[in-house]
Amino acid sequence: DYQVASEIVIFGALGDLSRRKLLPALYQLEVCGLINEDSRIVGAARQEHTLEEFKAIVLENINNFVKETIDKDVLARFMNRMVYQQLDFKDSSSFEQLKETLAQGNETRVYYFSTPPAIYGDICKGLDSAKLICDADRVVMEKPIGHSLESSIEINNQVSEFFKENQTYRIDHYLGKETVLNLLVLRFANSLFTNNWDRNCIDHVQITVAESVGIEGRWGFYDEAGQMRDMVQNHLLQILSLLAMEPPADLSADSVRAEKLKVVKALQPINRDNIKDKAVRGQYSDGFLNGVPVPGYLNEEGANENSNTETFVAIKAEIDNWRWKGVPFYLRTGKRMPKKHSEIVVHFKQQPHNIFKDSYSDLPSNKLTIRLQPDEGVELQMMNKIPGIASQMNIQENKLDLSFSKTYNDERVVDAYERLMLEVLNGNQSLFVSRDEVEAAWIWADSIIDAWQTTNETPKPYPAGSWGPVSSISLIARDDRQWVE
Ligand code: BG6
Repeated sequence: DYQVASEIVIFGALGDLSRRKLLPALYQLEVCGLINEDSRIVGAARQEHTLEEFKAIVLENINNFVKETIDKDVLARFMNRMVYQQLDFKDSSSFEQLKETLAQGNETRVYYFSTPPAIYGDICKGLDSAKLICDADRVVMEKPIGHSLESSIEINNQVSEFFKENQTYRIDHYLGKETVLNLLVLRFANSLFTNNWDRNCIDHVQITVAESVGIEGRWGFYDEAGQMRDMVQNHLLQILSLLAMEPPADLSADSVRAEKLKVVKALQPINRDNIKDKAVRGQYSDGFLNGVPVPGYLNEEGANENSNTETFVAIKAEIDNWRWKGVPFYLRTGKRMPKKHSEIVVHFKQQPHNIFKDSYSDLPSNKLTIRLQPDEGVELQMMNKIPGIASQMNIQENKLDLSFSKTYNDERVVDAYERLMLEVLNGNQSLFVSRDEVEAAWIWADSIIDAWQTTNETPKPYPAGSWGPVSSISLIARDDRQWVE
């Protein structure tokens, strides 16, 4: 019952996220004709700029970050929407100026907080004092939402004084990825999977989110967080929740988010008593990527060489509920791994009895691989007879491969921010994280971080360009399993 928003205000419009992701995403929505005819895009930032200067910055970023050829008419229409407002976030009179800049009608606004969370509270107060918050407006918050449960409560409290939960859109950009959205389709539009998705049929699940990049000039920021807070608390837990949740009654925000929340709440706590068996942290050391030497984390520019921050995490997560009791979900994610490669592998149980011993003494089990990125697709490993007249039955493991680029003729992969921006404009919260989810995720993550601290567990080194520390291999090998590479 929300109306489509007609004014988009980006706080921190000159920052990295806005330049790389938000402005290009809005341009793509323009290409698709998905922005209201009279909507305006208001960039707000500390720096003084004329509108022309701001437009030049927007143009530069469209040129840098949009891969397709730019359509002149679309660009002209897009640029026409631009408005710039210099803003002192701590000064309420500055928000009075913003008010004058904004359209004076009955606009529904999106306030996109693309700034450090420390100033969310100031922005809210400024908007409120200038009477710029209406019930239909929306606020978008970027991660990280806090550094721990406590700090996330503080940030959420500051914002919730001014915006209700149904106006609040917390971004986890993984929820906007095509392949992550496809998890809903795969699970709930295919009875084959819907009916075999539990402890009776599934042996275990592996989720890998590997990146080949290192810290990319943001050492100080990253070092405060580490891979647990930067990736596991949010992106990996969201993937896990979608994979493990009960079927929601429909696709509404209430239904989907309630089911995801139950998964996070059912995660078995990892604490100092069991941390050694359940979680591994690593930090990359000097190594090679594609044959080229790259520095270790402690040798990166701006590094504090005593840092104990992890750049890799592997976890054996267990969900204590009826569906998943005894089915481990092995998670691993890291920087400076051999390649950018994110995938989920669902390992089904082995057949109870083997009548093909001539080919396999140990019959391989079916595996469903969901390639999240790159080379998006779904693949099912299955057994097949090798054609031929031989009297014994020769069988082989083969795969059914649904490659998205082949199937959809190289259709452009929509960036997560395009999808999420569109959902905000349309007022649909399904792909955004509820406050309860964020807090439940912090409770679980904090306990792991705390266990590492209190047991003085320093990160294990792994050479840049490898799949992580040896102990991450032992984590899964102890259960007689191995990572799929
Ligand atoms: C961000 C993290 O949320 O996700 C980054 O802060 C990480 O450290 C990025 O590199 C990965 O996103 P993607 O879309 O490239 O997988």
